Amino acid sequence: MTRTLALITGASSGIGAAYARLLADDHDLVLVARRGDRLADLAEELRACGAAVEVLPADLASHDGIAVVTDRLATGDVGMLISNAGAGGYAPLTEVEPADIEALLTLNAVAPIRLVRAALPGMLAAGEGSIITVASLLAFSAGLTDPRAPRRTLYVAAKAATLGFTRTLATEIADTPVRVQVVCPGVVATEWNSGAGHNIPWAMTPEDVASASLTGLRLGETVCAPGLEGQDSALAELLAAEAAFVTGGNQSALAARYAQAVADRL
Ligand SMILES: NC(=O)c1ccc[n+]([C@@H]2O[C@H](COP(=O)([O-])OP(=O)(O)OC[C@H]3O[C@@H](n4cnc5c(N)ncnc54)[C@H](OP(=O)(O)O)[C@@H]3O)[C@@H](O)[C@H]2O)c1
Repeated sequence: MTRTLALITGASSGIGAAYARLLADDHDLVLVARRGDRLADLAEELRACGAAVEVLPADLASHDGIAVVTDRLATGDVGMLISNAGAGGYAPLTEVEPADIEALLTLNAVAPIRLVRAALPGMLAAGEGSIITVASLLAFSAGLTDPRAPRRTLYVAAKAATLGFTRTLATEIADTPVRVQVVCPGVVATEWNSGAGHNIPWAMTPEDVASASLTGLRLGETVCAPGLEGQDSALAELLAAEAAFVTGGNQSALAARYAQAVADRL
């Protein structure tokens, strides 16, 4: 049996570790995160399943850390990329240190794109490959006014970027054998947000998220929302709303509400 090599970021806990455990029976693995001790422990556990496991410590909030991983991907032997590492940085925007903005967006939005850019040529050359990015249901939440939702401008900006990037890439390379998926979990019981998910009754387990994602990949799903029933119709409504903006808004004339205001000033 040939074992595909899977590179997983954010493998030191939560959803990333769950992917690694699910894949270890028939994949070799490259595990990426900052906490090398955690990665080493997981690697030892997974080698017992027969997987060859590399540990690649890297801080994906820094361009040097991203380069460590893109250099590894550029060797062209990684057949599955799971870009999962992330951090919330939940806070009202005025309380976010300006210096932290770049690091958060680098980790949550730039790193996934840089990693996919590094992995894709090898997959296309091999004639097979899988790319999974982990976004969030909050990527859809810009207009959500529920006061229980976290203060999240930067997180939504980054995860919406990941969602839009991955969906657009899926369209761009639809005629290749490379499969692309963006996962949008709801609340998950992990170390995320200081483990807050463990106290939320509707939190999903990281194992269920990873399992849904890998099943969805086999089903050809570009978007995987693990808890969402009726995803096909929700996506159809989303596509219709997007088309209404893109097609409806691409006009040479101002919309009537603006044209009227302009006419009133004349
Ligand atoms: N938990 C939720 O409710 C939830 C919901 C929707 C989406 N998600 C998404 O799911 C993904 C995984 O989160 P999780 O729930 O599994 O949380 P988690 O248990 O906190 O895991 C986050 C992972 O990201 C890694 N990471 C964080 N900052 C990093 C950095 N600067 N460089 C490299 N790796 C870094 C962490 O490893 P180190 O600390 O060792 O670096 C850890 O392995 C994230 O992208 C998150 O946005 C989570």
